[in-house]
Amino acid sequence: MPSNPAADRLKSLFSAQDIVLDSAYQGIDAAGWKSLFSQAKASKLEQFIADLFAGKPVNNSENRPALHSALRNLDKTPVLVNGKDIMPEVAQVWHRMEALCNSWVGVTDVIHIGIGGSDFGPRLAIEALAHVPGIESRGMRMHFLANIDTADLNRILQRALPNSTRVIIVSKSFTTLETTMNAKAVVKWLKDHGRTDSQISHALYAVTANVPAAEAFGVNKDNIYPFWDWVGGRYSVWSAVGLPIALQYGFENFKQFLAGAQAMDQHFKSAPLEENLPVIMALSLLYQQEKYNIKSYAVIPYADALDWFPKWLQQLDMESNGKSVDRDGKPVKFSCPVVFGSSGSNAQHSYFQLLHQGTEVIPIDFIAIREPMSHLPEAKAHHRILLSNCLAQAQALANGKKTDNPNNTYPGKRPSNLLILPKLNAYYLGALLALYENRTAALGALWNINSFDQPGVELGKVLAKPIEAALKNGGTVLADAGIDEVTAARINLLNS
Ligand code: F6P
Repeated sequence: MPSNPAADRLKSLFSAQDIVLDSAYQGIDAAGWKSLFSQAKASKLEQFIADLFAGKPVNNSENRPALHSALRNLDKTPVLVNGKDIMPEVAQVWHRMEALCNSWVGVTDVIHIGIGGSDFGPRLAIEALAHVPGIESRGMRMHFLANIDTADLNRILQRALPNSTRVIIVSKSFTTLETTMNAKAVVKWLKDHGRTDSQISHALYAVTANVPAAEAFGVNKDNIYPFWDWVGGRYSVWSAVGLPIALQYGFENFKQFLAGAQAMDQHFKSAPLEENLPVIMALSLLYQQEKYNIKSYAVIPYADALDWFPKWLQQLDMESNGKSVDRDGKPVKFSCPVVFGSSGSNAQHSYFQLLHQGTEVIPIDFIAIREPMSHLPEAKAHHRILLSNCLAQAQALANGKKTDNPNNTYPGKRPSNLLILPKLNAYYLGALLALYENRTAALGALWNINSFDQPGVELGKVLAKPIEAALKNGGTVLADAGIDEVTAARINLLNS
């Protein structure tokens, strides 16, 4: 049947919560979409989505649900885990967070200590919302301390004022070495600056699923905000891990952040596959993977405010789906491609050469925001140029350009999505993050991968212990420490 460009064009426009997805440059026609939706149905994607929201143990290796959606369930409709409604506990934490927002006075600095999922989400939100024109901010200096490298610690401790600093230790497990060591160093800094034990106890907060460990560390029980085993670390910004958002921009904005995510969840849960944004985005990636065997994809937000978004997405996607066996332990043909990206138009002056003319096809998600991100007199003119660059890149990548000179030829057929947000605020940021979380989950289901564990990060952590011991004792490697010759030699190199 001849393709009908007008119908295909219509087929490429989708929307949810005023967020528009234009997939016209994916090169997927109506028949292609039809076959993709059949594939999704055959993969029992609808059943997976229902199980995810119902609190079924979709994290099969750890026999746990993945209920980050409950953390943004502002309606408090009951969500059962082992027969018990978890919403009263979730709501109690919201009340405590709100009360805390109203009780802090005279705080100049917040040191937020956490890594991975206990860092990226709040850091992204704090950065992104700082750019929202007119947003009310308490103007506290929010310092994010993640790396064990003392450069981070040093930078923060030079700026923070010890008498008016609050410290939030964020760790789902409360065993993460970077976090506990950094927390100890910050407590020592407070002591060194003459803060008494009772003042330190007043200044110290924890957000964790391991309350006993936080208490053992010395955090006052009243200052511990729990979250739960049924939330994956990288999905936890919706819990009290998002406390900095509420503290800096007010609880109302935090609620808006949750509301945007909740609206996207409702869409993911109830929209038919053919209109379901996260599913359509997942399927477009699957299509390119099957067509071009792509190994990576890029996400380019044309908004400086979203510069942290690709880093947040790297953990979300690659820690969730960077696996080579399926739920039954069988090898998979496809799983998560490498994700990279940064804000445009800066990115154009970095790796876009490769996107246009490199040997690999790398699909792209462009993200544009309709409204400019400032009230400066130049804002409209600059924003027009920003958007025109975004549209131009997508067209150039898709259509390419033939010339007689191979060096100047653009091959084209480089697929992309365009997501358009009406504006950037807490609500749309929440919706955007939930859109990608749900897309990651949908991709996991399509590949039959468990997106909610991360066993691959453990081996290196275990090996680091004997290596650290060897570095400490002058390079002597114990025979049964599991350190090979190459690493033993490297230990000596570093110790020499
Ligand atoms: O890198 C592995 C990981 O377990 C992530 O999944 C998690 O976000 C991060 O470490 C931090 O873990 P925690 O919140 O337990 O300190």
